[in-house]
Amino acid sequence: MPDVVKPDMPQGCDVVVLLSGTGGNLQAMIDSFKDNSSPARIRAVISNRADAYGLERARNAGIETRVLDHTAYEGREAFDTALIELIDTFAPKLVVLAGFMRILTPGFVRHYHGRLLNIHPSLLPLYKGLHTHQRVLEAGDTLHGCSVHFVTEELDGGPLVVQAVISVELHDTPATLAQRVHTQEHLIYPLAIRWFAEGRLALIEQGASLNGQLLGPSGHVIQAT
Ligand code: GAR
Repeated sequence: MPDVVKPDMPQGCDVVVLLSGTGGNLQAMIDSFKDNSSPARIRAVISNRADAYGLERARNAGIETRVLDHTAYEGREAFDTALIELIDTFAPKLVVLAGFMRILTPGFVRHYHGRLLNIHPSLLPLYKGLHTHQRVLEAGDTLHGCSVHFVTEELDGGPLVVQAVISVELHDTPATLAQRVHTQEHLIYPLAIRWFAEGRLALIEQGASLNGQLLGPSGHVIQAT
């Protein structure tokens, strides 16, 4: 019997979101994809921390949630194996890291090769790791921003998809920079996920490709200044 697509069963890109904290990026995705015609659909939110506020945001939006406590596992390999098993019960086409504060094992990254995205609060490859706003100020940089990238085995590495660039002002503090960077994160992450869901964004051998064109080393750059 041929497959019948019923109108109440929209075809789309199921996404699983992994987070550890506030879930500001998750909220931006929820708001951006709430329209029934959205190509992306958040299938589940998984956190390694039961107290992550992002879980409450998901529940408020009627999205399934799961907690997988990393402290209950002996080592990264065991946790990541259990995490893969849990994620795959939702059969997502895309997995997105939204403030998931865990270093992932090479096996995990390989399992989701080409369908794992991350957001980071700096203009990668600058300022990998933590405290990016403080480090930008200490260095006296005039530009800052955020990056969405495909995840590879290198921490905060992998081909860049999109960057938003803001200017650093004389009166900026880590808090004011964080606020402006978050605003940009909430625009570029849903945008990148939408591209992927529409089949316009892919990881190819040479890097990230958008609309069939290889992106440059910084990805698609948005000047938010
Ligand atoms: C975001 O700023 C994201 O860029 C950062 O965690 C924050 C999560 O905020 N991720 C990293 O630093 C990854 N290396 P949110 O919980 O409000 O989305």
